[in-house]
Amino acid sequence: MAALPAKLLRVALIVSVLGGLYWLALDKHAERDALRQASVELTAACSAKLQGYALTPGELYRSPYLLKTTGRSSRLRGYSEEDVRAIQRGCNIVDDTQGQLARGGARERWNATRYSRSSHASCDQCHQGVGDKQDAAGNRLVGSNGLAASWVMADMYDRFTGLLLPYELRQMQCYINSSNGFKPNAAEDLIRDVTAYSRFLAAALDLKVGNHYPEQGMDEIPASATLRRGDDYVRGAHVYRQRCATCHGLQALGTVVQGRVLYPALAGPESFSLDSRMNFARMNTVMPGFICRNMPLGEEGSLDNQQCRDIAYYLSTLPRPAGDKQGPLAAAWQQLMMTVMPPLTQYADSLGSNDTPLAPD
Ligand code: HEC
Ligand code: HEC
Repeated sequence: MAALPAKLLRVALIVSVLGGLYWLALDKHAERDALRQASVELTAACSAKLQGYALTPGELYRSPYLLKTTGRSSRLRGYSEEDVRAIQRGCNIVDDTQGQLARGGARERWNATRYSRSSHASCDQCHQGVGDKQDAAGNRLVGSNGLAASWVMADMYDRFTGLLLPYELRQMQCYINSSNGFKPNAAEDLIRDVTAYSRFLAAALDLKVGNHYPEQGMDEIPASATLRRGDDYVRGAHVYRQRCATCHGLQALGTVVQGRVLYPALAGPESFSLDSRMNFARMNTVMPGFICRNMPLGEEGSLDNQQCRDIAYYLSTLPRPAGDKQGPLAAAWQQLMMTVMPPLTQYADSLGSNDTPLAPD
């Protein structure tokens, strides 16, 4: 007769475990709902951006940008309060993926740190201007990796995977490799919020679905666009030291001051991975494009194609985390190199100046 209580006990155990899981799920659900309802404390850049584009709840949306640039006034369907909060959260994620700008405030704001191993990565570092980079006159810029322009091209072929990737999967690629992190679920609020924000940008800028705009992606630089002297490590390292190292550091490990990332790492453990779109397969046409159009910050456009390719080649040889496709051996190798290389190169630097000018070419 001992069998019956034992059986009952087993059933009770199973029921309570399942009940516990259910309770946890309900709790998570409630937490997410509370976050969705909570008002959003914007970062400074997002506040400026969204105010500039007159984002408020209402029946109709009229874009001030369109009015200013063309004199036409748009009458698009407006946004509910819920939409507005999603767009605001999306902007915050792009501007401040690590949630740093709001730290120290009363309440930690919505951020994406749980999807990133890098403590530097923020979408805005490579999708500058909170995904909408403009010059002082308000012109959108070629090769600035704009999120609105990429949203309207959402279903194009992805050159990295060869697949037709929707916008959500394109974002995921960046979480995994460019932020050296983990893949959020497609229905995850993070992904939906960034999509809502990108879609709003497209409305504000009056971009039309299916069109290709020059600010989408990078303005790639193939070897054929140079003097065809080949990519050169020594030339690259040299220009890097002269034009980039003051901000990104001699070892390209970035600059952090009082816990805030001033200049992101371009190599080492906090940087993008080997499979990042920035470093894709090291057959680099993307990174040179980024560098020529967007760096050195404040002096954009001052490097020539050959220099950008040389720097990108140099950077691509520096150790960084392995990508999601590379397996444990490559990961272990990269880990080893990330540990031994910086002290070695630092030692080499201390032996003699590397800044002797190269012969003019
Ligand atoms: C280290 C740089 C880097 C970081 C950080 C980064 N991205 Fe990207 N992202 C890129 C590059 C490079 C591309 C490819 C551009 C191209 O196709 O020319 C890209 C492409 C994309 C695309 C597709 C764009 C298109 O037009 O096909 C989306 C969407 C995107 N990123 C979203 C994000 C989001 C969201 C984050 C933050 C979680 C992020 N990215 C962080 C570099 C980065
Ligand atoms: C004045 C400081 C400064 C200089 C000089 C500078 N950068 Fe940057 N760089 C930044 C900042 C800041 C960012 C982050 C983007 C932003 O906030 O606009 C960045 C971002 C980047 C990124 C994308 C972020 C990432 O994680 O990959 C790359 C690549 C890059 N810089 C390469 C270079 C190269 C190559 C040079 C030299 C030609 C250079 N930078 C010179 C400040 C600088």
